[in-house]
Amino acid sequence: MRTDSALPTTLDPLAGRRVLVGISGSIAAVKLPTVVSALVKRGAEVRCVLTPSAAALVSPVALASLSRHRCYLDADQWSHTAARPLHVELAEWADLVLLAPLSATTLGRWVHGLGDTLLASLLLATEAPVLAAAAMNTAMWGSPGVAANWEALKTFERVLPLGPAAGLLACDREGTGRMAEPSLLLLALESLASWGWRRDWGGRRLLVTAGPTREWLDPARCISNPSTGQMGVMLAQAARLRGAQVDLVHGPLQLDPSWLEGITAHPIDTGAELQEVLLDLQPQADAIAMAAAVADHRPAQRLEHKLEKAQLEAALAEGWEPVPDLLAALVRQRRGAQPILGFAAQSGDVLSQARAKFNRKGCDLLFANPIDKPGAGFGSASNEGWLLGPGDACTPIEPMGKLPLGHVLLSALGQLLP
Ligand code: CTP
Repeated sequence: MRTDSALPTTLDPLAGRRVLVGISGSIAAVKLPTVVSALVKRGAEVRCVLTPSAAALVSPVALASLSRHRCYLDADQWSHTAARPLHVELAEWADLVLLAPLSATTLGRWVHGLGDTLLASLLLATEAPVLAAAAMNTAMWGSPGVAANWEALKTFERVLPLGPAAGLLACDREGTGRMAEPSLLLLALESLASWGWRRDWGGRRLLVTAGPTREWLDPARCISNPSTGQMGVMLAQAARLRGAQVDLVHGPLQLDPSWLEGITAHPIDTGAELQEVLLDLQPQADAIAMAAAVADHRPAQRLEHKLEKAQLEAALAEGWEPVPDLLAALVRQRRGAQPILGFAAQSGDVLSQARAKFNRKGCDLLFANPIDKPGAGFGSASNEGWLLGPGDACTPIEPMGKLPLGHVLLSALGQLLP
């Protein structure tokens, strides 16, 4: 299978952007060199600002080297050689701010409007969108002062708050407090660069399916397809970052597992399992995006023991049955307004096949993409195609990354919400 896992620079929303990385005092600071290195490789210009606690945890020398620029510390804030205050200079330089990890102290300073350090004053001075990824000990995260400050931060304009995940923390506590993984930080930053910070799906519940299903002949053999699940997972993360509560029903994925953080995942394997979970979740959903690549046929019988090679040909010729069309069933079963987006992976004449499919399935929107073109379809970081909608609507979609495309599709789906 072809996999163009990296987005070409020409399509990357982070390429050419000025990213200011603010690092405060949490042990998660040790993960930031990975993020800075990835940003530079993707063509972003990076400057790092560290609080004194952060500088004790992660080497400013390493960050300077990885960002190809000197780091800034509190001691740099005031200098008689500078024409303008450094915090204002840096605040105005940035297109985007990544604040990670965000400690309890820096959160408190920011929410209460205190500018007594370089990073704190920079946060007050900047008008750029900020991705803020909190990290701290579980008890600190749960303490009333921090909880109230976090709630206050959620009301700030231009801020995309990324709460911590649960796990084993460096303080040996098991619980909530772990900073989002570097690959999720990069994804959220890409979202901020391509869509922005607005949470227009707040209070909505979205049901998304992703990845392939597998139909088993015996314990060693199945029929499936090369879907990695990326399109559906990107759409799910886009919705989550826009405030939606997201249920993701997915087959076996070939993706970074941290991309599922913040989403309720329901793993499945076969079409029958997918059907059962959909039946359960459909009534609660405000909208549905059916990106799963459902295997079309299954053996009439799933054998318990592995067949000998010699028996295989006869077994394959025996009985196959179609997997029911789950998208068409969702359309039939819905009660009230519940916009549904389908997908059509096509080769050859994409548009005429997609139109026929759109009419057959009865969904409200259908995104059709070529799978026989480089840079689109299975395993690719980008995609392109046409979005079919009510009436004869047909919008061509230029090549773009699957996350920005997720945002485009989500906006179209959102317009159909009651
Ligand atoms: N789909 C579904 N149930 C199936 C097959 C497909 O719900 N048994 C959904 C997919 O999730 C997708 C849409 O229908 O949203 C189109 O899937 P696709 O595989 O392109 O279409 P098929 O109906 O399988 O038709 P064909 O294989 O002939 O192209």
